[in-house]
Amino acid sequence: MPTVLVTGCDTGIGREFARQYAGAGWDVIATYLDPANRIADAGPMRHAPLDVTDPAQFTALKRDLGETAIDLIVSNAGIGLDTGKLGSLDFGYVRAMYEVNAMGPLRLVETFEANLVAGSMRRFVAITSRMGSIALNLSGGHYGYRASKAGLNAIMRSLAIDLFERGITVASIHPGWVDTAGGGGNAAVPVAESVRQMREVIRCLGNHDTGQVYDYRGFALPW
Ligand SMILES: NC(=O)c1ccc[n+]([C@@H]2O[C@H](COP(=O)([O-])OP(=O)(O)OC[C@H]3O[C@@H](n4cnc5c(N)ncnc54)[C@H](OP(=O)(O)O)[C@@H]3O)[C@@H](O)[C@H]2O)c1
Repeated sequence: MPTVLVTGCDTGIGREFARQYAGAGWDVIATYLDPANRIADAGPMRHAPLDVTDPAQFTALKRDLGETAIDLIVSNAGIGLDTGKLGSLDFGYVRAMYEVNAMGPLRLVETFEANLVAGSMRRFVAITSRMGSIALNLSGGHYGYRASKAGLNAIMRSLAIDLFERGITVASIHPGWVDTAGGGGNAAVPVAESVRQMREVIRCLGNHDTGQVYDYRGFALPW
């Protein structure tokens, strides 16, 4: 069975990815901001701490995993959304969003590139947001979150080019407006359904998809 590493399994979409892949028989490496949140009721699974802003935790996880082949990495950990209005912006939080949402995935792929190459699927997927699409921004605001996800998309595009020779397919997926803590109230898509459909998008990814942004139903999104 393939091996998947998922970040941000404490709650929400990451936790559901870990549970569904474990349910499908995959070997799951679930990472947590707080390892006390480990998933206890989804069968055998590896658990590890990983704050994606902490280089020392990346080093420790790399040391633990060694040359373990990883078929798929789902870079899910993220924070958002509000930083206030112009005139009262929280620049500390703007910076934090960039560090978690954009730099975190970059450090993740840099750390585990060799593990992906050792796998047979070779897929690196980041959970982005349509709020990172400049073309789809018709309502303004959310400076930090939009910039962090647009930055992530730019990073993913470069990764797609740079990792193509190594056979790694890179794709960003918008999960929909999902009923998690991150999605806030009134979200339209149940988390189990969003993840089920994203797993199908991931399953169907081919080399020609590398560098693209999709939504959870597989529709391409503009930059
Ligand atoms: N829900 C939506 O409608 C929606 C829409 C578009 C995109 N997304 C994206 O989907 C992803 C998952 O979000 P979600 O909706 O599942 O929200 P969530 O429940 O808040 O999940 C985010 C997870 O990331 C973890 N996390 C936060 N900072 C971290 C760090 N420094 N290192 C490692 N993990 C960290 C959180 O841990 P704690 O809970 O312990 O803080 C949490 O488990 C995010 O990238 C988000 O931007 C969500």
